[in-house]
Amino acid sequence: MKNSINVGLVGYGFMGRTHSNAYAQACKFFPHTIHPVLKAVCGRDPVKLQTFADNWGWESTETDWRKLIERSDIELIDICSPNDTHMDIVLAAAKAGKMIICEKPLAKNASEARLMVDAVKKAGVPNMVCFNYRRVPAVTLAKRMIDEGRLGRIFHYRAKYLQDWTMSSNLPIGGPTLWRLDAKAAGSGVTGDLLAHSIDLALWLAGPIQELTAMSKTFITNRPLQADPSKSAKVEIDDACAFLARFKNGALGTFESTRYARGRKNQNTFEINGELGTIAFDFENMNVLEYYDHRADSAYRGFSKIQVWDGDKHPYMGNWWVPGCGIGYEHTFIHAISDFLYGLEQNTKLCPDLEDGYKTQLVCDAVLASAASGSWQQL
Ligand SMILES: NC(=O)c1ccc[n+]([C@@H]2O[C@H](COP(=O)([O-])OP(=O)(O)OC[C@H]3O[C@@H](n4cnc5c(N)ncnc54)[C@H](O)[C@@H]3O)[C@@H](O)[C@H]2O)c1
Repeated sequence: MKNSINVGLVGYGFMGRTHSNAYAQACKFFPHTIHPVLKAVCGRDPVKLQTFADNWGWESTETDWRKLIERSDIELIDICSPNDTHMDIVLAAAKAGKMIICEKPLAKNASEARLMVDAVKKAGVPNMVCFNYRRVPAVTLAKRMIDEGRLGRIFHYRAKYLQDWTMSSNLPIGGPTLWRLDAKAAGSGVTGDLLAHSIDLALWLAGPIQELTAMSKTFITNRPLQADPSKSAKVEIDDACAFLARFKNGALGTFESTRYARGRKNQNTFEINGELGTIAFDFENMNVLEYYDHRADSAYRGFSKIQVWDGDKHPYMGNWWVPGCGIGYEHTFIHAISDFLYGLEQNTKLCPDLEDGYKTQLVCDAVLASAASGSWQQL
């Protein structure tokens, strides 16, 4: 394996920034033999694109992702554009033999996701879906503790993902920043945007879901169009969604997600109750994992807050600062890119791949189908 990879990034918005930063930082903090090269960034507005490229150190620009894929000097396509672009870009990139990193949700629905998985398998190209919350050290530690048997048999999985940014009825549908409110661009509302993260973590930490029943709500049913605010359109995304699930291992799951929880900006939480203990995580306090160990001496037993910054023992933290100096949101992407590079170097699967993205998409589809029909859905 040669020691550099030429990256072509699609999209220079929120995720374009987190991924650009991650490519710049990953090899400075984690020892790698393969180094990403910021070869080209793609977007549709040439002026904004050039400003972005200059700021982050991208060597060149393209205004059409097809041109980016055609370039023989690009080896990895990283997709940070809205959900309705993911499938076409993945199919073309796989056909051209490029490695692929794709933001979540993998697609607008599971049928699209299936085609994407088939394409990368046929092409045999390394691939990753960017479920970055797995890379929060406290969450990776939770996975380790479950695998070590510290919780014993799992009874309950309880997840919440709450935000509050779409509550204003003046907020328009569509346009460059509000594509998330447009079902044609986003596929769904909070289900694909927020629950996809909660579902990926649940499948990773507690295993497959067998059946579920959901309810959803669109609180603001008509919104102005960003292209022409004098006109309005029906809102077709879910503003809030909750579901009950039975896991294959017998555990019960409850999941709740909304963009109407006033004051909650990005509260992504889970609590897992097992026979031997409980762990609880809240992204708004991301350097901490709460742990109750029922096997501890009952005189001193209680919830402890594990401060996940011990370089000797905690995932990823030995490569950062000294204990007591926490890390933040951007580090989850640095860890994701670093793990992708380790996967290439070791020729092994370390990251959630498109197949994992498809499994999450199947659950998302079942959630939406159940919310529409009111019936339980089998997976
Ligand atoms: N992993 C996470 O936690 C996380 C967080 C936010 C967003 N996302 C995902 O990342 C993706 C992008 O979201 P975002 O918040 O960065 O959106 P954004 O609106 O901030 O940025 C999207 C970018 O894509 C570009 N774009 C749109 N259509 C394009 C096209 N046809 N060709 C080239 N560029 C195009 C836009 O110009 C913009 O630069 C979405 O799939 C979203 O769900 C993931």
